Amino acid sequence: MTNVLILGANGQLARNTTRMFLQTTDARLTLYLRRSSRLTCPAPQRATVVEGDVLDRPTLEAAMKGQDVVYANLSGAMKEQAECIVGAMHATGLRRLIFISSMGIHGEVPGERYSSVLDPYRDSAAVIEASDLDYTILRPGWFTRDASLDYQLTQKGEPFKGHDVSLNSLSALIVKLALTPGMEIRRNLGVSQG
Ligand SMILES: NC(=O)c1ccc[n+]([C@@H]2O[C@H](COP(=O)([O-])OP(=O)(O)OC[C@H]3O[C@@H](n4cnc5c(N)ncnc54)[C@H](OP(=O)(O)O)[C@@H]3O)[C@@H](O)[C@H]2O)c1
Repeated sequence: MTNVLILGANGQLARNTTRMFLQTTDARLTLYLRRSSRLTCPAPQRATVVEGDVLDRPTLEAAMKGQDVVYANLSGAMKEQAECIVGAMHATGLRRLIFISSMGIHGEVPGERYSSVLDPYRDSAAVIEASDLDYTILRPGWFTRDASLDYQLTQKGEPFKGHDVSLNSLSALIVKLALTPGMEIRRNLGVSQG
């Protein structure tokens, strides 16, 4: 049984992915978030809620003990959080990281100019790529609530295809990455609707 630590567990995509983990797998989840009173534990037998800030290294390292996969679904101080996550994973001997970023961080979207609001996302991806972790960085398009479950991937260096992607498609990809050893290791992938 796989143990998955979800950082930023109250985020929109994280909540959707938590539901999919619980409905389609037997993974055990640790839901890590600030101000945990906002989140009702969705399945007390399989999910544990931990209150913590990702920038709080001791709390983060304590939550990493016994985990197999770290899935980071964050916003805000992305570079500093990436540094904390990489450091805490080294300290606790964890290797597998799935890190949600954004389309556009490499100026890869045809017809769109790079915007400096993406600097924290670009910088956090650089921190992770410089590590020796088994990471998969996802650069999704704009989230939709479409029911569809299909996506296409583009590699770093390729132009991004499309513009949107459904939350459900992203969650299905994250669940598959978490539970499939060796899948898309050390990749930085654009994700859009197929
Ligand atoms: N929406 C889109 O169409 C779209 C498209 C491409 C990429 N993205 C990106 O994909 C990522 C996930 O999206 P989302 O909609 O799930 O984002 P979201 O709802 O904004 O969730 C991000 C979570 O990160 C948490 N967080 C930030 N700093 C933290 C810290 N220091 N410690 C612990 N938690 C922290 C926030 O917690 P608090 O609630 O405590 O603030 C929040 O719950 C975001 O970075 C977003 O920008 C979004």
